[in-house]
Amino acid sequence: MSKTATLKIDDQELELPVIVGSEGEKAVDVRKLRATTGYITYDEGFGNTGSCQSEITYIDGEVGILRYRGYPIEQLSEKCSFVEVAYLVIYGELPTVEQRERFSAALTEQAPLRAGMERFIQNFPRDAHPMAVLSSSLNALGAYYPNIASNNHKRDLEHFDEAAAIALSKVRTIAAHTYRVNNGLPLNYPKKDLGYSENFLHLMFSAPYDEYVATPEVAAAINFFFLLHAEHEQNCSTSIVRMVASAGANLFASAAAGVNALWGPLHGGANQAVLEMLNAIHADGDDGSKFIEAAKNGKARLMGFGHRVYKNYDPRAKIIKGSFDKALDSLGITDDSLLDIARNLEAAALSDDYFISRKLYPNVDFYSGLIMNALKIPVEMFTVMFAIGRMPGWIAQWHEVASNPKAKINRPRQIYVGPVPRDVPDVV
Ligand code: ACO
Repeated sequence: MSKTATLKIDDQELELPVIVGSEGEKAVDVRKLRATTGYITYDEGFGNTGSCQSEITYIDGEVGILRYRGYPIEQLSEKCSFVEVAYLVIYGELPTVEQRERFSAALTEQAPLRAGMERFIQNFPRDAHPMAVLSSSLNALGAYYPNIASNNHKRDLEHFDEAAAIALSKVRTIAAHTYRVNNGLPLNYPKKDLGYSENFLHLMFSAPYDEYVATPEVAAAINFFFLLHAEHEQNCSTSIVRMVASAGANLFASAAAGVNALWGPLHGGANQAVLEMLNAIHADGDDGSKFIEAAKNGKARLMGFGHRVYKNYDPRAKIIKGSFDKALDSLGITDDSLLDIARNLEAAALSDDYFISRKLYPNVDFYSGLIMNALKIPVEMFTVMFAIGRMPGWIAQWHEVASNPKAKINRPRQIYVGPVPRDVPDVV
């Protein structure tokens, strides 16, 4: 028998249906509440609100579980590439060999930008923030592919495979071109024989007579970074992607909105904050111990530690740390003052009761900031890297909304607390 919850309000008693997810997550269904009682629920920040039913990602933060389409992140990162995981997130199943080849070929075909798009990026000021360029450029894709971005979900879904390949492949090219333009460097063009992450590194770092060849360990570290960021259910940017999609907007417009949300320092900016913290500790002549004491006394916050959702261990942190150590070895980086400080902070926090008792473990941002710094990716590109990795999730979430015949435009209510009705005075 299906469960219900009983709500007593005024002199009314209401039976509210209970929805149970495939992992046993429970929700009280309040969809008929306002129509029946005139009341709405109040949940600023949406911490207790399920905005959708989704088949894409499952997270149990208490235990440290992250699964894409039912597959644990640990197994995916061991057995699959970012491109295979992107396919899984977008299409629901891991690709067969043939599907994988077709998908890779589509990504290769879509990697270059149209000449007009290149000029669009080149026309931004040299000091433009790469996230501003990225969101504008993703939006501009809608202008270059009007058939695919028609803002008619039925029609846009007929071109979904192409739209997904364009978004996933071009986000990487846009990001790398922006870096080159901002640094006054000539653009590089994607190469057919390189994988997704290797191509990204080539687009970023190859010089006209000096092609950048990533070590397998460095390419693997970037691959892990993208893979671990591929999807994270209804966080701020993903919720925005779904909200924009719920109005009928096309994939590129919806993904551009996601980039804007991710740009906010409370969302995608934590890996940048880690590096800024390490630089400040270094500038202070501290080896990390003074900072740890300040964090324990509430005078500082150890960036890259703790997580809103993961109250055990961020499963992504463990995976990225392993690949990080290998990448550093392959680059021959052994003595680096920021790295030493990071290792001191990590060791101190993992053995200190203040951090242990509050379940403050290193999160994925702690290591990813360090990896990108070691690979000479500038700090202002960190959030862009996050956006490249998150693109499969945004595509999948857009598709879930666009293909749901029962999807409704998202339109929360509010409690009005402004002035009560009054008359406009004669003299203003
Ligand atoms: N350093 C020192 N103390 C901390 C830290 C930290 N990083 N994080 C939490 N605490 C302490 C708090 O002061 C509090 O102590 P108290 O119980 O003595 O008052 C206790 O731990 C609980 O803290 P909350 O803020 O309630 O934890 P919450 O779950 O709300 O916050 C958050 C999680 C925001 C991520 C926090 O841990 C933090 O600010 N971390 C650093 C920033 C960071 O790395 N953010 C990235 C998260 S990953 C992501 O979003 C992609």
